[in-house]
Amino acid sequence: MSVNQLLKPVTLEYKKNINIGGCDLVELAKKYGTPLYVIDESTIRSICKDYKEAFKDYNNIKMMYASKALCTMATSKILSDEGFGFDVVSAGEIYTVYKSGTDMSKVLFNGNNKSRREIELAIDLNVGRFSVDNFYEAELLNNIADEKGVTVDILLRITPGIECHTHNYIQTGQIDSKFGFDLVQIDKIVEIINTEYKNLNLKGLHAHIGSQIFELQSFYDEVEILVKEIARINEKFSLKLDEMNIGGGLGVKYTEKDEPPKVCDLAKVVTDAMHKYSVDIPTIYLEPGRSIISTSGVTLYTVGSSKLASNGHKYFAVDGGMADNPRPSMYQAEYAAEVANYSDAKNREKEKLTLVGRYCESGDILINEIELPKLETGDILCIYNTGAYNYSMSSNYNRVEKPAMVLVNNSQSDMIVYRETLEDLISHDSIPDRLRK
Ligand code: LLP
Repeated sequence: MSVNQLLKPVTLEYKKNINIGGCDLVELAKKYGTPLYVIDESTIRSICKDYKEAFKDYNNIKMMYASKALCTMATSKILSDEGFGFDVVSAGEIYTVYKSGTDMSKVLFNGNNKSRREIELAIDLNVGRFSVDNFYEAELLNNIADEKGVTVDILLRITPGIECHTHNYIQTGQIDSKFGFDLVQIDKIVEIINTEYKNLNLKGLHAHIGSQIFELQSFYDEVEILVKEIARINEKFSLKLDEMNIGGGLGVKYTEKDEPPKVCDLAKVVTDAMHKYSVDIPTIYLEPGRSIISTSGVTLYTVGSSKLASNGHKYFAVDGGMADNPRPSMYQAEYAAEVANYSDAKNREKEKLTLVGRYCESGDILINEIELPKLETGDILCIYNTGAYNYSMSSNYNRVEKPAMVLVNNSQSDMIVYRETLEDLISHDSIPDRLRK
């Protein structure tokens, strides 16, 4: 078992109430309020160990964490302590990992439309690699590097033409994609870099085929394409590219029916493909996001109103919803939940219900059909596997304050993201003087 195959954090215990990281979830809800994101430090460290252990026999492995899954200073600090670098895609992510004390040479700047400001910031903070996504960016990056009198190390983002089985919106490796150079365009950009862009130092190729992937064959195919492309380019252009970034994408277990592969099976597929095709073994970069952080996170909500529709459909509403977790409404994502005041609820009769949020949209459904002990107003619900792409995709829809996030470990809880206040909500607003008259 690796941690991405677990539905719940590794430290979870059923006591009077559910405990995570030695902390009673009902007590946390009382202390910090709800909705509340809770992140279990041991679970993050355990999955990092799973990855490091799985790839330990492959010497040239560089572990990066895809910050887009969850980017806070505290979680970045934990991941750098574990030896991870970072895949970042914005000035905000660059700044957050920088401020957390990360060694910036271990940071890779990704993205399909990096702005001049972002590129300048990345160069000024000595970000280690740029993954160049398109012709426009290559020219812009070369110009900025030239103005600053530096040479930057780059990978080229390619779309390897792999269609993995996941939700359409989170597939990224197929030919008709907004990301990267396809295999027909790659020689042209290598040629231009070789002959014109003296401030770009081409180190290798980068691909990312999608997210929440369960089929390891897709990774095998991806590595095969990258290895062959690197060998072909080296031969054709007399280059020595020796780095390949295979992106992220390993799936996690959101509900009992999900069966994501083990990290060590991913490692086996990747290294098998490498050894089969590669003469000179390149450095491999991995940049998982979801599989590193998802299982460590749960969200606590308080149950409020309920409604029995005339057709017999039972709804229960909690105090959060699509603004703190947009995934069900965006991707029809499914989640599992339990009542955190566990022994209280355990002996109640069970019933099927739909768990909805408090936002003004019919689509604000957190869990479409779930069987739970008969809920009562005031119960604390714990939704599992919300560490990835929840807070990072959250919004202030309906002008609701974003929840707090606490880190739990060894019976200690620390606030790592403060709950927004009403003052925070208006702090960026301004009424023009002419309207004040
Ligand atoms: N590298 C690149 C270039 C990526 O675009 C991504 C994710 C990753 C790494 C990390 O992939 P992961 O290991 O997390 O699967 N918001 C969607 C997921 C979008 C993923 C975008 N790219 C969701 O909530 O399912």
